Amino acid sequence: MHFILTTPRLYLRQFTLADAPLLLALNSDPEVLKYLHEIPLKDEAHAIEILTTVILPQYPNNLGRWAVHLNDTNEFIGWCGLKHRPEIDEIDLGYRFMKKYWGNGYAFEAAKHVLDYGFNHLHIKSITGRAHIDNIASLKVLEKIGMQFIKEEIVDSCPVKTYMATVQ
Ligand SMILES: CC(C)(COP(=O)(O)OP(=O)(O)OC[C@H]1O[C@@H](n2cnc3c(N)ncnc32)[C@H](O)[C@@H]1OP(=O)(O)O)[C@@H](O)C(=O)NCCC(=O)NCCS
Repeated sequence: MHFILTTPRLYLRQFTLADAPLLLALNSDPEVLKYLHEIPLKDEAHAIEILTTVILPQYPNNLGRWAVHLNDTNEFIGWCGLKHRPEIDEIDLGYRFMKKYWGNGYAFEAAKHVLDYGFNHLHIKSITGRAHIDNIASLKVLEKIGMQFIKEEIVDSCPVKTYMATVQ
């Protein structure tokens, strides 16, 4: 297993192709995708396609969306991580958790440690976060980890709020 980091309650690791069932469970829930510009995954073959074309190719740069598990039980709860967006040359912080684990502070805990990891371990200078203007939970996470609101804009036809954190 390729570990990335641990927090008081969580550990983060790289996904592998064997995680297709976990990704399918996460990305087939319409409530999880409510504010995201994505179609629900249909089956495990579809999950393997996303792992192969979107998630795994980010890892050679030490970036990526990392699987998040509970330290105590090893349960998979979702993902959090940093993604390079070459088209706008940005490093983007993202997170997504299964609904049964919402409201426990896990997104804050994972996002805060991933942000610190990006600055202190990967030596990234600037990290961006975006959320749909109605995605209150996600906006709260971005604010709580100390990101600064930059602007409202339309991205992929969605109205979003853009935040940024820069190295101190
Ligand atoms: C956004 C998401 C990751 C938040 O995860 P979470 O683990 O429930 O978040 P936390 O428990 O760390 O809560 C962070 C803050 O948001 C608040 N919050 C959580 N859900 C909320 C809701 N539905 N409405 C309002 N506030 C909410 C929490 O109270 C907390 O604020 P507080 O510390 O001031 O109380 C989760 O809802 C999710 O996975 N949503 C689907 C995917 C998604 O939208 N990802 C973000 C894309 S930009």
